[in-house]
Amino acid sequence: MYPNFPSQFIRSAILIAFWAGISLGTHVAFSIGFDFQLGVTFHAYIQMHGYLQLMGWAGLFIMGVSIPFLSRLAHLTSVEDSKISLIYRLMVSGLILRFIAHSFLPYFTNSYWYDFFAIGVLISAILISLGILFFIQFLSSVVRKMKPDLSDKNRDIRVFLFMNIIGWVVYAIGAFILLIIMYVDGEASLIHHWHLFLVDFFILFSVFPICFGVGLRALPLFMRLTSIKWNVMKFSKVYFMVIITLIISKLYYYNVYIDWFPKMISIIHIIKDILIIWFIYKLNILFKSKKHREIENKEGRGHDKKKYRDWLPDNGEFGKFEWLIQSAFIWLLIGLIFDIISQIGLITKIQMGIGIDGVRHMWLAGFVSLLIMGMAVRMIPGMTGAMKLQKPSRVAFLAIIMNLSVLFRTISIVFPELVLNSVPYGGIIATRMFGASGMLFLTGLVVFYTILKPVLIRKDEIQESI
Ligand code: HEM
Repeated sequence: MYPNFPSQFIRSAILIAFWAGISLGTHVAFSIGFDFQLGVTFHAYIQMHGYLQLMGWAGLFIMGVSIPFLSRLAHLTSVEDSKISLIYRLMVSGLILRFIAHSFLPYFTNSYWYDFFAIGVLISAILISLGILFFIQFLSSVVRKMKPDLSDKNRDIRVFLFMNIIGWVVYAIGAFILLIIMYVDGEASLIHHWHLFLVDFFILFSVFPICFGVGLRALPLFMRLTSIKWNVMKFSKVYFMVIITLIISKLYYYNVYIDWFPKMISIIHIIKDILIIWFIYKLNILFKSKKHREIENKEGRGHDKKKYRDWLPDNGEFGKFEWLIQSAFIWLLIGLIFDIISQIGLITKIQMGIGIDGVRHMWLAGFVSLLIMGMAVRMIPGMTGAMKLQKPSRVAFLAIIMNLSVLFRTISIVFPELVLNSVPYGGIIATRMFGASGMLFLTGLVVFYTILKPVLIRKDEIQESI
């Protein structure tokens, strides 16, 4: 028996994003976009937003989907329910404690209450680190158990899983060390450039690899893509080498100044971007040719042909989930192109005016969040036993609202002022769009929750209700 689908992870990911992670981002973006005072909380709140979004939204989701999905891939039948529940309790209690304690901290930096809230923040980091430790134990057992797939290099995603483990470990330890430094210095926020270094580390080591790995194994099936006929193992090793070189070079440069190093780092960034563009191309998710679809259609569907939607192996019971997934990859691609342009600007010393925070949000709010939503509405009904969505028509609405939110969030940051001001009031409109982007994201989360809530049931609950 495979483990029950851990619905509680998904429910909490959405609730934490809504009440804490995105709410904080919305608050800050609204203040900036509509010219309100930022106040003493600014740095602490954006860092907390980043942390809660990575650990709470992306992290809990990755955990919730990885546990059943990877267990099946590795034929792992003995995942203890009690261990899963322990990971869940540690993560969620840690995240809630972090939200509460760190929200108050900036107001008490010069008061004896400082210790009380700062220690709360430290305890939260310990709880989350323990949750991550138990999750890593699970991931390691999957990597060990996946040995039989060794022969098939086109399906072997173990390097991605391995990177995922490194990402979690480094992020948890790094964030804890930064919090201790914050406490010792009596501050309310972390040393910002190291905090951002960890954020990028986690994106490159954990978030992207797990999206690539799970995507490679699940998307060809759900989206009726060409089966993977290229060496995934080799690709993942090259990706790993490029990322590790990038990280080591950055770390080295932080300590030793060498004149030509920034140029070299930019070149490695560009190589990384091109590698991911190549991956999108090979996955064939955006460039799926009509000819190929016709062939697949003829060969694959046979007598069932009428039952299915055009080019997809379902009859609409999951709504237009492909809108979410395809736009996720479009955001990834646009972010990569902007990143390349901005790196070229750094090499040539030409001001491009592209804010890296906008590129980061194209990847996190655009790629990762839309992929999470698309995969969730397509995968979870099958995993919980509900089999279909009760309100599939809402998925298209969700895709539209989420895409608008990402557009609003990023447009003023990635386009230079010169471009924005080329239309009348362009700059001011883009800034107001930025200010409103969080509210759109919050609306998207509500819609997403109403779509998923009826299918987030356990198999035993279904049996009881029969
Ligand atoms: C529309 C929704 C969102 C809004 C309004 C928003 C807002 C913000 C703002 C205002 C910042 C500070 C930027 C700066 O330093 O100038 C920020 C940073 C950040 N956001 Fe978001 N965000 C959104 C969605 C997301 C999502 C979905 C994720 C992750 C999955 C995310 C992760 C991050 C991270 C990692 C940082 C950098 C953290 C830092 O500086 O501490 N954000 N966001």
